[in-house]
Amino acid sequence: MKVVAFNGSPRKDGNTTILINKVFQELEREGIETEIVQLSAKQIHGCIACYKCFEKKDRRCAVKNDAANEYIEKILGAQGIILGSPVYFIDITPEMKALIDRTGFVSLANGRMFKNKVGGTVAAVRRTGGVHTIDSMNHFLLSQEIFIAGRAIAFGMDKGEVEKDEEGIQFAKSLEGCDDQSERRMTEMYALVVTIHIKPEHREEYIKAILDDARGSVKNEDNCLLFNVIQDETDPNCLYLYEAYRDVKAFEYHTQTPHFIHFFNTTKDWVTQPMAIGKGTHLFPLDDRWKKQV
Ligand SMILES: Cc1cc2nc3c(=O)[nH]c(=O)nc-3n(C[C@H](O)[C@H](O)[C@H](O)COP(=O)(O)O)c2cc1C
Repeated sequence: MKVVAFNGSPRKDGNTTILINKVFQELEREGIETEIVQLSAKQIHGCIACYKCFEKKDRRCAVKNDAANEYIEKILGAQGIILGSPVYFIDITPEMKALIDRTGFVSLANGRMFKNKVGGTVAAVRRTGGVHTIDSMNHFLLSQEIFIAGRAIAFGMDKGEVEKDEEGIQFAKSLEGCDDQSERRMTEMYALVVTIHIKPEHREEYIKAILDDARGSVKNEDNCLLFNVIQDETDPNCLYLYEAYRDVKAFEYHTQTPHFIHFFNTTKDWVTQPMAIGKGTHLFPLDDRWKKQV
């Protein structure tokens, strides 16, 4: 398991670095691999709104003259992500904002490719704006469907001063809980309940497409245990899906399969509204009671 932290402070060994290192000390004690990225070490610009990532959907930013794609790779390669920023005018630094806009937009263009990771945030603040700064980073995590494990704010101005804020340091140390959450999310059975409203003129072809996807999922994916398609008894244009996967990785794999991508691309304009999707873990039956649907 790996956790990558992005430090938005231009001061390399400043207070934000100290907070990130407090989180890392605890993670490393548990054998977790860690990496800290100093955003000020390489150039990263803001998003230029070319929307090429939405056209190409190749999991890359089309602007290749800075570190954005390298950072996308680092997020994809980690299970946990820590965002750290000093408070600059009651908010995150421009470096952190550039990271969020550049990596976040490419992720959205590619079906939220960071989703289901676990995240945490830390902020170093002299006096005012700690909560707002944490909020800015948490909004990014929420927009990506990254589970938020916690946050830490610590007070200090000069380099090293946050060490004196014992409560803030304690919050940073407790962020190692993101590891437990990540581990649990990665190994538990994962289920989806989906509601779909089809345009009446596309009902037949939509139902054929979803049945192909359902059959493909159960037949070709070892870890898709169940894929039920239910038609509403009073509204034939309304379908409910109930899908169960061995774990969240199995679900992520499902979203990359040819049958799913074909279904997704062909049917996206055949619905009256976006799918309503509920996701979660099973309370009953217990995970070891599941057998694969045949
Ligand atoms: C440009 C700039 C703006 C800042 N704005 C704020 C602010 O709005 N509120 C605050 O409490 N501290 C502010 N600070 C102080 C930093 O948040 C504080 O010194 C922090 O500990 C720096 O963390 P670092 O060592 O990781 O860079 C600002 C500092 C700079 C350089």
